[in-house]
Amino acid sequence: MPDTMTAIEITAPGGPDVLKPTQRPVPRPGHGQVLLKIAYAGVNRPDALQRAGNYAPPPTASDLPGLEASGTVVACGPGVSDLSVGDQVCALLPGGGYAEYAVTPAAHCLPIPHGLDLKQAACLPETYFTVWSNVFTRGGLQAGERFLVHGGSSGIGTTAIQLARHFGARVFATAGSADKCAACEALGAERAINYRDEDFVTVLRTEGGANLILDMVGGAYIPRNLKALADDGRLVQIAFLQSPMVELNFAQLMTRRLTMTGSTLRPQSDLAKARIANDLRTHVWPLLAAGTIGPVMDSEFPLEQAAQAHARMESSGHIGKIVLKVA
Ligand SMILES: NC(=O)c1ccc[n+]([C@@H]2O[C@H](COP(=O)([O-])OP(=O)(O)OC[C@H]3O[C@@H](n4cnc5c(N)ncnc54)[C@H](OP(=O)(O)O)[C@@H]3O)[C@@H](O)[C@H]2O)c1
Repeated sequence: MPDTMTAIEITAPGGPDVLKPTQRPVPRPGHGQVLLKIAYAGVNRPDALQRAGNYAPPPTASDLPGLEASGTVVACGPGVSDLSVGDQVCALLPGGGYAEYAVTPAAHCLPIPHGLDLKQAACLPETYFTVWSNVFTRGGLQAGERFLVHGGSSGIGTTAIQLARHFGARVFATAGSADKCAACEALGAERAINYRDEDFVTVLRTEGGANLILDMVGGAYIPRNLKALADDGRLVQIAFLQSPMVELNFAQLMTRRLTMTGSTLRPQSDLAKARIANDLRTHVWPLLAAGTIGPVMDSEFPLEQAAQAHARMESSGHIGKIVLKVA
């Protein structure tokens, strides 16, 4: 095992150019952890928020960006019994994915689904953990319900559309161009709404209202989301791309029995994330292996070009996932 590795660090809060290659010590796995030699690392919007100084890593996590990766187990810490050196996995990481090596709890690793390669598998954990826990566990989506996801062409959106459709929901999505809307419908959305031309509130109210909305936009979308919900509907907030601040009349929460909730994945306990991993292994990994659902790949960049990968993500020109090739 080498003592040092190439990694991408955030040299100062700022734009994509603050991401620079550096040399760091190879981390050592602690109790219950494995060391991965990374093949590919997924790029996620929270990495860009962290880079800009708006999403600090938890105190025990690496300061390097990168929340998911695929690769090979090259060392196991004490107490690891389910994985062995040489196993290929994809994993949710507490941070540190933009590097040649990273450590993570063994319980946050999942097998490479049959039929997927390491590049595709690197793009699964962050979005699948997030969508499963927010749409199905927290949001309680049921077959037959009307489900609206904003940012339908994002990594999160493309995952949510496929899973919600598979589990029997009627899926609606918003996106910012005709191409993105077409991609959402090809993935299983019954109706994609170009938010630049159309009002999602009108579309959803015509259908009877959404039973569940997954929102990452916030701001002016919050009161509009409440209007778009059916009575007893639920709104799950996973980000505030626009703003977390808004003036809101809360009376309708009471009179129409609405629920507002939300979560972020990263600060949750290792045990909570292990439970999500177990749910995914049981309910979702067989669907990936069967080809029923799968990651939507946008583009690949070499690790050293992480800045270009972030610029692509922030241009919003992408559909689906952006990945860094590490080895
Ligand atoms: N809570 C959590 O644990 C958690 C975990 C992972 C990700 N997230 C959040 O989930 C979001 C998606 O993440 P990602 O990695 O999949 O990022 P991404 O692919 O960059 O997606 C961001 C999306 O937001 C869309 N968007 C921006 N403004 C919009 C608007 N006004 N209406 C509708 N869509 C809008 C963009 O599409 P258009 O070009 O169509 O606008 C883009 O597709 C991010 O906000 C991220 O922070 C939360």
